[in-house]
Parts: sequence; C-alpha cells; structure tokens
Amino acid sequence: MQRIKVLIADDMKETVDLIRKVLNIEQENFEIVGEAYNGEEVLKLIPRLKPDVVLMDINMPKLNGLEATEKITTEFPTVTVIIMSVQGENEYLRKAMLCGAKEYIVKPFNYNALLETIKVTFEKNKARSVNLVTTLDEAKNAKIITYFSSKGGVGKSVLALNSAITLSKYDEKKVLLMDMDLQFGDISMMVNKYNAKTILDVIDDGQVESFENIKPYLYGHNKNLDILFAPSKPEAVEFIGLGSIEKILKVFQESYDYIIIDTGINFSETTLHILDNSERILFVSTMEIVSLKNTKLGLQVMESLGYDKDKVKLIINKFTTSYGIDKKDVQEAFKHEIFAMIPHEENIVTPSINKGEPYSDNPKHQKLKVWKSLDTMCKQLNY
Ligand SMILES: Nc1ncnc2c1ncn2[C@@H]1O[C@H](COP(=O)(O)OP(=O)(O)OP(=O)(O)O)[C@@H](O)[C@H]1O
Ligand SMILES: [Mg+2]
Repeated sequence: MQRIKVLIADDMKETVDLIRKVLNIEQENFEIVGEAYNGEEVLKLIPRLKPDVVLMDINMPKLNGLEATEKITTEFPTVTVIIMSVQGENEYLRKAMLCGAKEYIVKPFNYNALLETIKVTFEKNKARSVNLVTTLDEAKNAKIITYFSSKGGVGKSVLALNSAITLSKYDEKKVLLMDMDLQFGDISMMVNKYNAKTILDVIDDGQVESFENIKPYLYGHNKNLDILFAPSKPEAVEFIGLGSIEKILKVFQESYDYIIIDTGINFSETTLHILDNSERILFVSTMEIVSLKNTKLGLQVMESLGYDKDKVKLIINKFTTSYGIDKKDVQEAFKHEIFAMIPHEENIVTPSINKGEPYSDNPKHQKLKVWKSLDTMCKQLNY
C-alpha cells in the first residue's frame, strides 16, 4: 500500500513533535512530508510537498486554520484536511466542516484514534480525488520572485528583466515579468516599447478577472516570456488598488511557472502584499557605502516582517574589487549570505539599456561574466 503523505500544521512546536512521533510509529503507513507553523506556510508548501492529508490546527498566526482550509478546498481540492481542535473549541468544528475540512479530532488525542482517523478519512476521499486530478494538473502555480532594494539605481530593473529572459529559455518555462515600480517603472523602455498597454489599462478597462481578459494587455517578448508594464505616469499609482493587484496576481499564478516582479523603493501596502506572497525576495545592493547602509536597514525590516533567510536572498550587483570590501566582509557585516554577485560591466549593460536590447538576448554575450553570473543565479532559482 502507498504511504499516506501528511503535512502537519500547528504553531505549537511540541504538538508537531508529538504528532511526528505518533506517525513514526507506523512508518509503513505514513510519510511526514513537512510541517508548517501558520496557515500561509501551509498554502505555500502544498504545491511543492503534495501532501495527501493536512493535519490542521485552528488557532494559528497569519492565516488561521479555518481560512487556510477554505483556501485548500478551492485551490487544492484533492488534499484532505483534518482539523485538530482543543476541547472547548467545539463551536469552530461546524465552521471547519463548512470550510471544507473532511474530519476533525480533538486534542489531546488518543494515538490510535489519530492514526485511524487519518487512514479512514484519507481512504474515503481518495476515490473523489482521482476524478479531480486531471483538472488540477492543468492549472499552474507560479513561483513569485521579487526584486527589491532600499536604495535606487542598484540595478533591480535590469536584473529583473534579464533574469526573466534567462528563465524563459530554460526548458519551456512560462514566465511573466511584472513591472510593479508603479511610479517610475522603466522596463518598457528597456525593451523599446514605449506606447504599449500597461497595468493601468487592465484596471481601467476592468479586465482583471481572467487570463483571457488580461492577455491583450501583455507584451510578448518571446514565446515564453510576457511582460506587464507599469503605467507611464507616476500619478497613475493612485488608481491602482490592492484589490486589483491581488486579482491580477492570482490569474497570473495559475497561468505561468514564474512571476518575476520588479518593485519601487517603498513599503506601500501593494509592495508588502507582493513581498508577503513571494517565494523569494531578491534584495539587491551594490558595494557602495550608502547602498550597504540602506541594505542593512532593509534586511532588518525583512526580518521584522517575519521573512526568513531562505526567502530573502542578497544580491550584490555592479561588483568590482576596487571598493576594498569583499564578499566575506559583506556577509559578516550583514550576517546574511550573498546569493549572487553580478559584476560591474558598464560597457555591456548601459548600451543594452540605451538601445532597448537586453543583454541576455544577445548570444554574443554568453561568454561574459555578467551573463554567466546571472545564468548561475537563475539556475539556483529554477528548482
Ligand atoms: N551589472 C551592471 N554593471 C554596470 N552597470 C549596471 C549593472 N546593472 C545595472 N547597471 C546600471 O545601473 C543603472 C540602474 O539600473 P536599474 O535601472 O536597473 O536600477 P534600479 O534599481 O531598477 O533603479 P530604480 O531605483 O531607478 O528603479 C542603469 O543605468 C544600469 O546601466
Ligand atoms: Mg528600477
């Protein structure tokens, strides 16, 4: 018999450890594929870990177990959710069932009851799941990779554009590049498309609900890369609400393998929403002293937002040895590993921007360090 893949979601480490021990008693029947400490984490882990069953606590930070269950039921209907509640939370149980949970168990639980409940509930839902698998596979679930910095001009937009191009050339990956520097976005200029439609047109025309509707507003840079440009006027940002962004992002997530986002330097609610929903934040700095100072502050903000070091990756752009500071110094000062170092290569990068011809599109540049280092970084993102 195939083992049942279980994801444990509980904010109490002790409970998670206890469940682990119990399930390990029957290793021939259960495989623990992961653990999560809040509802948001559960939703992020499901596409990667593909659990059969989620054991879900109710009271968890960020997104509680009920909200998470509701999302799982619509987004991942083949996953069986079993709610774990403590005595006295009985009023939640009815709600849990309405949210789509298939069963519940009350803590502290009897070990055998826990094992039996998982087995029986899983078996009961298996037949139903089989019918759903085909439709589920068709919808994609894009990884969101966001470029951010706390100092302007460090190269976010150049990196976002060229990494999106690089990723789009890896085994048929479908990539969307979204210019979310809503005031001063300049990616349209970098690909020589001045009068193209922008995110403001999508929203003004009320076309945020489906991919079919948004498609005409995208610029197809190559067959696997589409770009949604930022508005051409800074004041347009006032007309772009978080609700619309959320809808657009959801539509894109179902249609692409990667969403690469370029951002402006701000912690607006839109930027925070994007950062929250990103699988990776690529925090760009240069070795220049003001940039390093602001990066240190920015990384502290990332930490206070609860993003771990696996999510926030530091990139040093325009690297040269002439600053007298090396990789090790930066890592030590920031207590943060450097994910990638992209060399300063002005003779390549600046003309590519001025001409509107991204350097990663030019095969002649493949031997250059700036190309190679970007390619190495993108390979690490493509897991
Ligand atoms: N690896 C590099 N080597 C040399 N110059 C670079 C490199 N990367 C970027 N630049 C230069 O840095 C400048 C700023 O780049 P870019 O516009 O991408 O930065 P940004 O962080 O998006 O800035 P903004 O804050 O304005 O959005 C550009 O003129 C570009 O030519
Ligand atoms: Mg920029």
